[in-house]
Amino acid sequence: MTDQASGLRKMQDTQKIKVIAVSGGKGGVGKTNVSLNTAIALGQQGKRVLVLDADLGLANVDVMLGLRVKRNLSHVLSGECELDEIMIEGPAGIKIIPATSGSQSMVDLTPPEHAGLIRAFSEMKTEFDILIIDTAAGISDMVLSFTRAAQDVMLVVCDEPTSITDCYALMKLLSRDHGVFKFKVVANMVRTPKEGQQLFVKLTTVTDRFLDVALELVSVIPFDENIRKSVRKQQVIVEAYPNSPAAKAFKSLASKISNWPLPNKASGHLEFFIEQLLDHK
Ligand SMILES: Nc1ncnc2c1ncn2[C@@H]1O[C@H](COP(=O)(O)OP(=O)(O)OP(=O)(O)O)[C@@H](O)[C@H]1O
Ligand SMILES: [Mg+2]
Repeated sequence: MTDQASGLRKMQDTQKIKVIAVSGGKGGVGKTNVSLNTAIALGQQGKRVLVLDADLGLANVDVMLGLRVKRNLSHVLSGECELDEIMIEGPAGIKIIPATSGSQSMVDLTPPEHAGLIRAFSEMKTEFDILIIDTAAGISDMVLSFTRAAQDVMLVVCDEPTSITDCYALMKLLSRDHGVFKFKVVANMVRTPKEGQQLFVKLTTVTDRFLDVALELVSVIPFDENIRKSVRKQQVIVEAYPNSPAAKAFKSLASKISNWPLPNKASGHLEFFIEQLLDHK
């Protein structure tokens, strides 16, 4: 127990970290691609990036990168190993925490596991500038918890009615029940820059009427065949086709993220994120 307290104190002395959740409501809109490409582009720009694969149902960050995962968070929670030991290294030096397989939810833990998770993060030896959380599709408690706990929420949307309505549903829940009112929108798979703007207008037309939220369009990612080609090569586009249109869009999104301000005070620390994550459901 004293170990845990000293771990937390230690963390307060450490650097602040930017925590960004990537969500969107609908499945298949490009959340994992946005998470990984942005993370790797940030890594290429010299940032120390950690990606948390929070898609517990179908953990696919490792699959997408062709990495082999031997142990995951469940082994950390059971005390078999430390967080640093389960991190796998991806391209551009990024580190990835693989999801727990099976049905166990990271936000539905027993009290000892809860304490174990805090301890695991507080004792983490590697330091990071940015934590990117790739969430699952849908509006489950787990998605809401991760999204609520982050400092910035990036919502990936496509120009399809179901993507727009699912994204709306997510924003409605987050603003109504979880105190999240600011959203950064990534318009993905658009055919022209104009389509990206129009998609954003469609979204804000409904949110302005019915919700008390503030939206910002932070990136327009073009539909790019090279994304599918890189997925087949188990690579990401910023690596496999760095000069393609979507790769350029991811790199400029990464540059933008680097300039987002860090919150002052406690909320800039990882400890705050974990506490928020476990606070309530
Ligand atoms: N900009 C794009 N251009 C072309 N194809 C894309 C683009 N973005 C994503 N895709 C393709 O869309 C599919 C879904 O992408 P991805 O797995 O990133 O979505 P997701 O939102 O994480 O899905 P899930 O909800 O299942 O986790 C993939 O086959 C990917 O190659
Ligand atoms: Mg995904």
